[in-house]
Amino acid sequence: CTFAQKQQVAADAGAVGTIIYNNVDGPLNGTLGDPADARIPSAGVTKQVGEGLAGQAGAEVNLDIQSRLESVTTRNVVAQTRTGRPDNVVMAGAHLDGVPEGPGINDNGSGSAGLLEAALRMGGSPQTENAVRFAWWGAEESGLVGSTKYVQSLTFEQQLDIALYLNFDMIGSPNAAYFAYDGDDSDGVGAGPGPQGSAQIEQDLVAAMAAQGVELEGTDFDGRSDYGEFIANGIPSGGLFTGAEGVKTEEQAAKWGGTAGISYDPNYHQAGDDLRNIDRVALERNAKALANVVEAYAESTEGVNG
Ligand code: PHE
Ligand code: ZN
Ligand code: ZN
Ligand code: ZN
Repeated sequence: CTFAQKQQVAADAGAVGTIIYNNVDGPLNGTLGDPADARIPSAGVTKQVGEGLAGQAGAEVNLDIQSRLESVTTRNVVAQTRTGRPDNVVMAGAHLDGVPEGPGINDNGSGSAGLLEAALRMGGSPQTENAVRFAWWGAEESGLVGSTKYVQSLTFEQQLDIALYLNFDMIGSPNAAYFAYDGDDSDGVGAGPGPQGSAQIEQDLVAAMAAQGVELEGTDFDGRSDYGEFIANGIPSGGLFTGAEGVKTEEQAAKWGGTAGISYDPNYHQAGDDLRNIDRVALERNAKALANVVEAYAESTEGVNG
């Protein structure tokens, strides 16, 4: 995917402003699957958003580009507010990379832009109880590499400092569904429940979308996005999703509009995943819900953490 196109989505979402930005010390990893050289994130470094990724540390991953395997360096960008309790951090993430087959606008310029909008709306020094940490993950499409290495790079204490994690991967699908990750495994099929507190996150997301007149459905924590290593380490998690290759039912089309019998995103992982094929209504609703829950958790996570 091209970064310029993702920047364009961000610009469409009205992005302007300054936030803090936590640099990462040294390479996150030399080779895939080698936890030995994982590094711990350093203290915050203030930078302008959009100052570029140069100087950020990276991880090497292999991407199949035009049938040649190339080793490229990829990065996470992590930004935390200056204010708020650093031992009760509200974390939200979206992957910034895409697949080589297409520009990656819904997957996942949409989640990246929604997150950026929430960060800009909040600013670097909001007067909130809890610190907020935003992560734009690298190498999700190569096997959740950036988010996995990040969580594994934290000490147990640093993991405990994360009150909860919210994930946004595809929030503007052109034949949109409205899903939240099923924190309590309410349907009892597929993947099990998330860590304790995840059901409350699901309920809070349901309320945030209901306030906009949209009824959410649950979608399993099936391990296909960056919440994986967070739930594996017991961190309460949740998030929004408007669907990928799954097919919209008649019932869903009646409830949400769109077309039954075709997938939520017919351009999923294809060249057509571009700016023309975003449902801007779905993107706006999800971005609003995202910002609203992040701001609510910045005030208190007691409902989730007890
Ligand atoms: N993580 C998948 C991708 O980036 C998309 C996805 C998100 C699938 C959430 C299921 C649930 O391709
Ligand atoms: Zn993808
Ligand atoms: Zn994705
Ligand atoms: Zn549920």
